[in-house]
Amino acid sequence: MKLEELIKDEIRTKGRITFKRFMELALYHPELGYYSRGPKIGKKGDFYTSVSVGSIFGRTLAKALKEMLELSGSDTIVELGAGEGTLAGDILSSLGDDVKYIIVEKSPAFVKRQKEALKAFKNVSWIDEPQNLPPLSGVIFSNELFDALPVHLVEKKGRLFEVYVSLKGENFCEILDEPSTEKIYEYFERLNVKLADHFRTEVNLEGAKLIKLLGEKLYRGFVVTIDYGYPSHELYMDYRNRGTLVCYYRHKVNDNPYQHIGEQDITAHVNFSALAAYGKDAGLEVCGFTNQANFLIDAGILEEASSPDEILKAKTLILPESGMGEVFKVLIQHKGFDEKPRLSCLKNAPRRGSYEL
Ligand SMILES: C[S@@+](CC[C@H](N)C(=O)[O-])C[C@H]1O[C@@H](n2cnc3c(N)ncnc32)[C@H](O)[C@@H]1O
Repeated sequence: MKLEELIKDEIRTKGRITFKRFMELALYHPELGYYSRGPKIGKKGDFYTSVSVGSIFGRTLAKALKEMLELSGSDTIVELGAGEGTLAGDILSSLGDDVKYIIVEKSPAFVKRQKEALKAFKNVSWIDEPQNLPPLSGVIFSNELFDALPVHLVEKKGRLFEVYVSLKGENFCEILDEPSTEKIYEYFERLNVKLADHFRTEVNLEGAKLIKLLGEKLYRGFVVTIDYGYPSHELYMDYRNRGTLVCYYRHKVNDNPYQHIGEQDITAHVNFSALAAYGKDAGLEVCGFTNQANFLIDAGILEEASSPDEILKAKTLILPESGMGEVFKVLIQHKGFDEKPRLSCLKNAPRRGSYEL
């Protein structure tokens, strides 16, 4: 049966479902979900990530991770959501056998490809879910994972409503009703956000749960989150009153999650203020919040570029025009240090304005 039909059947049997449940099935249905099937990432897929640009991204990130490992007194790196395994390969080629590399990957199809891509490295192991991570010191990082987690959708119409997915005849339709969980109200209270009337936005409770879990697993070290997104005061600006949810199908952006189900990516910008706030519950303190351009320059990307082609690639990763240098942000949280650690990759992190969490 097609995934679309499976979702419609669930609605016919159980009644309307939250948008979050719809997105969870579209992306992570065990056999037919977009990510479970292991989509190609890069030119032949639906979207590019910084990893697709070239190994210079991973090599530069490796330098920053190395400094964090030294400060943590650990050799353990955890990568969450490793996609094709390319970034892991680029990092491991730079850091060699000195590190213990753990990949947390939910999609069996990606795990298979990662194992193939990383077969030359003996120091890699796999875990299927973040809950199964052991307590650890070191660095836990992700590149474009949080934006791929299923989100609740809400809309303010006098009061706060949640978006549910139902059926009108054979077609999907959206309906508004009371939020499915108190946690949605708590989220906005926690972040001290009052949505303007008619504002529609996403609530990434999975992301909040995950950052807290990572803080619980880590007893000394860093959590590095690279993704596109904003702090609350930017995310809820008037001109984003339709939210940030978008879909990618063969490198074209669209705003209709109810088409190409299981064949297209669905994503929402990350609220970095929420990651900072919920991480704090488990002892994660903000070390710094910067953009990809400043992070990579401070980590030494320009010194790493060894040919004209690599200089071009570095530019793609850092210039604002490419969309990668400024849209992508880097949040670094730390735990278990007596004082806030000083990291070279945060030397020129912007301190005010858009970067206040
Ligand atoms: C957008 S891809 C990014 C892949 C890679 N990091 C890159 O930058 O090219 C998201 C990745 O996260 C994985 N993923 C999603 N949710 C996950 C979860 N809860 N735990 C572990 N991996 C997850 C997906 O299967 C996929 O590998």
